[in-house]
Amino acid sequence: MSNKPIGMFDSGIGGTSIFKEIHALLPFEHIVYLADSKNAPYGNKCKDEIIALSIKNTELLLEKNCKLIVVACNTATTNAIKILRESYAVPFIGIEPAIKPAALNTRTKAIGILATKGTLSSELFHHTTDLYTNDIKIIEQIGDGIVPLVEAGQTNSAAMKVLLTTYLKPMLDKDIDYLVLGCTHYPYLIPMLLELLPKHVKIIDSGLAVAKQTKAVLEQQKLVNLGEKASENVFFSNGNVTVLDTILEHQFSVKALNF
Ligand code: DGL
Repeated sequence: MSNKPIGMFDSGIGGTSIFKEIHALLPFEHIVYLADSKNAPYGNKCKDEIIALSIKNTELLLEKNCKLIVVACNTATTNAIKILRESYAVPFIGIEPAIKPAALNTRTKAIGILATKGTLSSELFHHTTDLYTNDIKIIEQIGDGIVPLVEAGQTNSAAMKVLLTTYLKPMLDKDIDYLVLGCTHYPYLIPMLLELLPKHVKIIDSGLAVAKQTKAVLEQQKLVNLGEKASENVFFSNGNVTVLDTILEHQFSVKALNF
Protein backbone atom coordinates (compact mmCIF):
# COMPACT_ATOMS: atom_id res chain seq x y z
CA MET A 1 0.00 0.00 0.00
CA SER A 2 1.41 3.37 -0.93
CA ASN A 3 0.57 7.02 -0.53
CA LYS A 4 3.00 8.04 -3.28
CA PRO A 5 1.40 9.81 -6.23
CA ILE A 6 0.39 8.40 -9.59
CA GLY A 7 2.23 10.17 -12.42
CA MET A 8 0.60 11.07 -15.72
CA PHE A 9 1.97 12.73 -18.83
CA ASP A 10 0.74 13.92 -22.19
CA SER A 11 2.02 16.17 -24.94
CA GLY A 12 -0.19 18.83 -23.39
CA ILE A 13 -3.61 19.27 -21.88
CA GLY A 14 -5.32 16.33 -23.60
CA GLY A 15 -4.48 13.85 -20.86
CA THR A 16 -6.61 15.86 -18.44
CA SER A 17 -9.53 14.01 -20.06
CA ILE A 18 -7.97 10.83 -18.61
CA PHE A 19 -7.10 12.55 -15.33
CA LYS A 20 -10.83 13.24 -14.80
CA GLU A 21 -11.70 9.56 -15.21
CA ILE A 22 -8.91 8.37 -12.91
CA HIS A 23 -9.69 10.98 -10.26
CA ALA A 24 -13.39 10.05 -10.34
CA LEU A 25 -12.63 6.34 -9.91
CA LEU A 26 -9.74 6.73 -7.44
CA PRO A 27 -10.54 9.88 -5.43
CA PHE A 28 -7.93 9.20 -2.72
CA GLU A 29 -4.99 8.82 -5.10
CA HIS A 30 -2.66 11.83 -5.38
CA ILE A 31 -1.78 12.60 -8.99
CA VAL A 32 1.10 14.51 -10.54
CA TYR A 33 0.21 15.55 -14.10
CA LEU A 34 2.81 16.70 -16.61
CA ALA A 35 1.73 18.65 -19.70
CA ASP A 36 4.62 18.78 -22.15
CA SER A 37 2.84 21.54 -24.08
CA LYS A 38 6.11 23.07 -25.24
CA ASN A 39 6.65 20.00 -27.42
CA ALA A 40 3.05 19.53 -28.60
CA PRO A 41 1.97 18.14 -30.91
CA TYR A 42 3.75 14.78 -30.63
CA GLY A 43 1.64 13.34 -33.43
CA ASN A 44 3.85 14.45 -36.32
CA LYS A 45 7.17 13.66 -34.67
CA CYS A 46 9.22 10.58 -35.55
CA LYS A 47 9.24 7.53 -33.29
CA ASP A 48 12.70 8.27 -31.83
CA GLU A 49 11.69 11.76 -30.86
CA ILE A 50 8.47 10.52 -29.23
CA ILE A 51 10.51 7.94 -27.29
CA ALA A 52 13.03 10.58 -26.15
CA LEU A 53 10.25 12.90 -24.92
CA SER A 54 8.48 10.02 -23.18
CA ILE A 55 11.69 9.09 -21.36
CA LYS A 56 12.20 12.70 -20.28
CA ASN A 57 8.64 12.93 -18.95
CA THR A 58 8.99 9.59 -17.16
CA GLU A 59 12.21 10.67 -15.45
CA LEU A 60 10.61 13.89 -14.25
CA LEU A 61 7.70 11.93 -12.78
CA LEU A 62 10.05 9.45 -11.13
CA GLU A 63 11.93 12.38 -9.55
CA LYS A 64 8.56 13.31 -8.05
CA ASN A 65 8.43 9.85 -6.52
CA CYS A 66 5.55 8.45 -8.60
CA LYS A 67 4.59 4.82 -7.94
CA LEU A 68 2.91 4.18 -11.31
CA ILE A 69 2.85 6.13 -14.56
CA VAL A 70 -0.11 6.63 -16.85
CA VAL A 71 1.00 7.48 -20.36
CA ALA A 72 -2.05 9.64 -21.04
CA CYS A 73 -1.26 9.98 -24.72
CA ASN A 74 -2.07 7.51 -27.50
CA THR A 75 0.90 8.69 -29.56
CA ALA A 76 3.38 8.15 -26.73
CA THR A 77 1.79 4.83 -25.75
CA THR A 78 1.79 3.33 -29.23
CA ASN A 79 5.39 4.43 -29.92
CA ALA A 80 7.15 4.32 -26.58
CA ILE A 81 5.46 2.23 -23.89
CA LYS A 82 7.36 -0.94 -24.76
CA ILE A 83 10.70 0.81 -24.20
CA LEU A 84 9.44 2.53 -21.04
CA ARG A 85 8.36 -0.82 -19.60
CA GLU A 86 11.72 -2.35 -20.46
CA SER A 87 13.64 0.55 -18.95
CA TYR A 88 11.91 1.34 -15.64
CA ALA A 89 10.64 -0.74 -12.73
CA VAL A 90 7.39 1.15 -12.08
CA PRO A 91 4.20 -0.11 -13.76
CA PHE A 92 3.02 1.81 -16.83
CA ILE A 93 -0.58 2.13 -18.00
CA GLY A 94 -1.07 3.18 -21.60
CA ILE A 95 -3.91 4.33 -23.78
CA GLU A 96 -4.70 3.07 -27.26
CA PRO A 97 -7.62 3.68 -29.61
CA ALA A 98 -10.53 1.48 -28.44
CA ILE A 99 -10.92 -0.46 -31.68
CA LYS A 100 -12.09 -3.69 -30.07
CA PRO A 101 -15.48 -2.53 -28.69
CA ALA A 102 -16.23 -0.71 -31.95
CA ALA A 103 -15.28 -3.72 -34.05
CA LEU A 104 -17.33 -6.09 -31.90
CA ASN A 105 -20.47 -3.94 -32.02
CA THR A 106 -20.57 -2.36 -35.47
CA ARG A 107 -23.62 -3.24 -37.56
CA THR A 108 -22.58 -1.39 -40.70
CA LYS A 109 -19.18 -3.15 -40.60
CA ALA A 110 -17.47 0.20 -40.93
CA ILE A 111 -15.74 2.11 -38.16
CA GLY A 112 -13.93 5.43 -38.22
CA ILE A 113 -10.74 6.16 -36.30
CA LEU A 114 -9.50 9.66 -35.70
CA ALA A 115 -5.97 9.77 -34.31
CA THR A 116 -2.55 11.31 -34.85
CA LYS A 117 -0.15 10.29 -37.60
CA GLY A 118 2.19 8.87 -34.94
CA THR A 119 -0.54 6.60 -33.56
CA LEU A 120 -1.93 5.46 -36.89
CA SER A 121 1.50 4.60 -38.25
CA SER A 122 2.65 2.71 -35.15
CA GLU A 123 3.23 -1.03 -35.04
CA LEU A 124 1.13 -1.40 -31.90
CA PHE A 125 -1.89 0.21 -33.57
CA HIS A 126 -1.58 -2.08 -36.60
CA HIS A 127 -1.21 -5.12 -34.43
CA THR A 128 -4.41 -4.31 -32.49
CA THR A 129 -6.32 -3.42 -35.66
CA ASP A 130 -5.34 -6.69 -37.34
CA LEU A 131 -6.54 -8.67 -34.33
CA TYR A 132 -10.10 -7.36 -34.33
CA THR A 133 -11.04 -6.06 -37.73
CA ASN A 134 -10.95 -8.94 -40.18
CA ASP A 135 -14.24 -8.34 -41.96
CA ILE A 136 -14.60 -4.68 -41.05
CA LYS A 137 -13.79 -1.53 -42.99
CA ILE A 138 -11.55 0.80 -41.00
CA ILE A 139 -11.56 4.38 -42.12
CA GLU A 140 -8.46 5.94 -40.58
CA GLN A 141 -8.10 9.69 -40.46
CA ILE A 142 -5.15 11.71 -39.22
CA GLY A 143 -6.43 14.59 -37.12
CA ASP A 144 -3.89 17.08 -38.42
CA GLY A 145 -4.27 20.49 -36.80
CA ILE A 146 -6.70 19.44 -34.07
CA VAL A 147 -4.23 19.23 -31.16
CA PRO A 148 -2.80 22.76 -31.69
CA LEU A 149 -6.34 24.18 -31.71
CA VAL A 150 -7.24 22.36 -28.47
CA GLU A 151 -3.96 23.53 -26.91
CA ALA A 152 -4.87 27.09 -27.92
CA GLY A 153 -8.30 26.82 -26.30
CA GLN A 154 -10.09 26.83 -29.67
CA THR A 155 -12.05 23.67 -29.12
CA ASN A 156 -15.33 25.21 -30.19
CA SER A 157 -13.98 27.43 -32.95
CA ALA A 158 -15.06 27.79 -36.56
CA ALA A 159 -11.62 26.50 -37.58
CA MET A 160 -12.24 23.31 -35.58
CA LYS A 161 -15.62 22.86 -37.23
CA VAL A 162 -14.03 23.06 -40.68
CA LEU A 163 -11.40 20.46 -39.76
CA LEU A 164 -13.86 18.04 -38.21
CA THR A 165 -16.34 18.36 -41.06
CA THR A 166 -13.56 17.55 -43.53
CA TYR A 167 -12.25 14.62 -41.48
CA LEU A 168 -15.66 13.06 -40.87
CA LYS A 169 -16.81 13.18 -44.48
CA PRO A 170 -14.92 10.11 -45.80
CA MET A 171 -16.10 8.17 -42.75
CA LEU A 172 -19.73 9.13 -43.21
CA ASP A 173 -19.46 8.35 -46.94
CA LYS A 174 -18.51 4.80 -45.91
CA ASP A 175 -21.46 4.60 -43.47
CA ILE A 176 -19.58 4.23 -40.19
CA ASP A 177 -21.65 3.61 -37.07
CA TYR A 178 -18.74 3.98 -34.60
CA LEU A 179 -16.18 6.73 -34.31
CA VAL A 180 -13.16 5.84 -32.19
CA LEU A 181 -11.32 8.79 -30.64
CA GLY A 182 -7.65 7.85 -30.72
CA CYS A 183 -6.13 10.87 -29.01
CA THR A 184 -6.64 12.15 -25.48
CA HIS A 185 -7.21 15.70 -26.71
CA TYR A 186 -10.27 14.59 -28.67
CA PRO A 187 -12.81 14.00 -25.85
CA TYR A 188 -12.91 17.81 -25.65
CA LEU A 189 -14.42 17.73 -29.14
CA ILE A 190 -17.38 15.55 -28.18
CA PRO A 191 -19.94 18.41 -28.03
CA MET A 192 -19.02 19.48 -31.56
CA LEU A 193 -18.84 15.90 -32.82
CA LEU A 194 -22.35 15.26 -31.52
CA GLU A 195 -23.52 18.22 -33.59
CA LEU A 196 -21.78 17.00 -36.73
CA LEU A 197 -22.47 13.26 -36.58
CA PRO A 198 -25.76 11.57 -37.42
CA LYS A 199 -27.52 10.33 -34.27
CA HIS A 200 -26.81 6.64 -34.91
CA VAL A 201 -23.01 7.07 -34.89
CA LYS A 202 -21.58 6.24 -31.49
CA ILE A 203 -18.41 7.85 -30.15
CA ILE A 204 -15.93 5.71 -28.24
CA ASP A 205 -12.98 6.85 -26.20
CA SER A 206 -10.73 4.92 -23.86
CA GLY A 207 -10.73 7.13 -20.77
CA LEU A 208 -12.85 5.00 -18.47
CA ALA A 209 -11.07 1.80 -19.55
CA VAL A 210 -7.72 3.40 -18.65
CA ALA A 211 -9.03 4.43 -15.23
CA LYS A 212 -10.28 0.88 -14.57
CA GLN A 213 -6.97 -0.60 -15.67
CA THR A 214 -5.10 1.84 -13.39
CA LYS A 215 -7.24 0.72 -10.45
CA ALA A 216 -6.72 -2.96 -11.28
CA VAL A 217 -2.92 -2.60 -11.48
CA LEU A 218 -2.75 -0.60 -8.23
CA GLU A 219 -4.71 -3.39 -6.54
CA GLN A 220 -2.67 -6.23 -8.07
CA GLN A 221 0.62 -4.60 -7.13
CA LYS A 222 -0.60 -3.54 -3.69
CA LEU A 223 -0.02 0.14 -4.43
CA VAL A 224 -3.44 1.50 -3.50
CA ASN A 225 -3.49 4.57 -1.24
CA LEU A 226 -5.57 3.49 1.73
CA GLY A 227 -5.75 6.99 3.21
CA GLU A 228 -9.09 8.72 3.15
CA LYS A 229 -7.85 12.27 2.88
CA ALA A 230 -8.95 14.05 -0.29
CA SER A 231 -6.24 13.73 -2.89
CA GLU A 232 -3.74 16.48 -3.63
CA ASN A 233 -3.23 16.85 -7.34
CA VAL A 234 -0.44 18.85 -8.89
CA PHE A 235 -0.31 19.93 -12.52
CA PHE A 236 2.90 20.98 -14.25
CA SER A 237 3.16 22.55 -17.68
CA ASN A 238 6.11 23.85 -19.69
CA GLY A 239 3.85 25.88 -21.97
CA ASN A 240 1.25 28.57 -21.67
CA VAL A 241 -0.91 27.56 -18.71
CA THR A 242 -3.95 29.69 -19.56
CA VAL A 243 -5.98 26.94 -21.21
CA LEU A 244 -4.92 24.31 -18.69
CA ASP A 245 -5.87 26.68 -15.86
CA THR A 246 -9.30 27.21 -17.39
CA ILE A 247 -9.92 23.46 -17.35
CA LEU A 248 -8.54 23.10 -13.82
CA GLU A 249 -10.24 26.10 -12.22
CA HIS A 250 -13.50 25.16 -13.76
CA GLN A 251 -13.46 21.65 -12.36
CA PHE A 252 -10.86 21.31 -9.63
CA SER A 253 -10.04 24.80 -8.30
CA VAL A 254 -6.27 24.39 -8.74
CA LYS A 255 -3.71 26.22 -10.85
CA ALA A 256 -0.93 24.72 -12.94
CA LEU A 257 2.74 25.24 -12.09
CA ASN A 258 5.56 25.71 -14.59
CA PHE A 259 8.39 23.22 -15.01
N1 DGL B 1 -2.89 13.55 -26.56
C1 DGL B 1 -1.99 13.01 -27.56
C2 DGL B 1 -2.51 11.64 -28.01
O1 DGL B 1 -3.32 11.04 -27.30
C3 DGL B 1 -1.84 14.06 -28.59
C4 DGL B 1 -0.79 13.82 -29.56
C5 DGL B 1 -0.14 15.04 -30.10
O2 DGL B 1 0.42 15.81 -29.32
O3 DGL B 1 -0.14 15.16 -31.33
O4 DGL B 1 -2.13 11.09 -29.02
